[in-house]
Amino acid sequence: MEQIPLFERLGGRDGIRAMAERLLDNHLQNPLIATRYENASKDREQMVEGATEFFCTGLSGVPTYEGRPIAEVHTGMNIDDAEFVAVLDDAIAAMGSLGVGEREQAEVLHVLYSMKGDVVRL
Ligand code: HEM
Repeated sequence: MEQIPLFERLGGRDGIRAMAERLLDNHLQNPLIATRYENASKDREQMVEGATEFFCTGLSGVPTYEGRPIAEVHTGMNIDDAEFVAVLDDAIAAMGSLGVGEREQAEVLHVLYSMKGDVVRL
């Protein structure tokens, strides 16, 4: 099982896109962070697309993400630790509701957590 890349185990681009959609739905219902996404400069489709390509690029190695580096995207937002944890909570809930395996959830969480320095207090 471990030899199969995480990208494949998440269902490739389609699986990752479904996760990005569910994640945004969860953010918009999460009182800790909903206004961040309601006030985003991008519309829903652009945000789902950006998140999908960002993760596909990171996990497949094929560079399809054309957005700005994430440290740059989040600079000036002054995101705090509680908001960061809220995003992780929403990611776990999104994966759980889509039936993503426990092992894959843990691996995705690890990947997300490793990017904390590019997101928080910038
Ligand atoms: C590991 C955690 C995170 C990752 C990997 C991440 C990644 C991204 C990516 C890839 C984009 C889209 C950029 C584009 O399409 O050009 C984005 C946009 C955005 N992120 Fe994050 N993000 C994370 C955490 C957070 C947190 C904690 C918040 C605040 C609650 C946040 C708020 C936003 C907002 C509001 C946008 C839309 C910006 C705009 O277009 O106005 N993100 N993020």
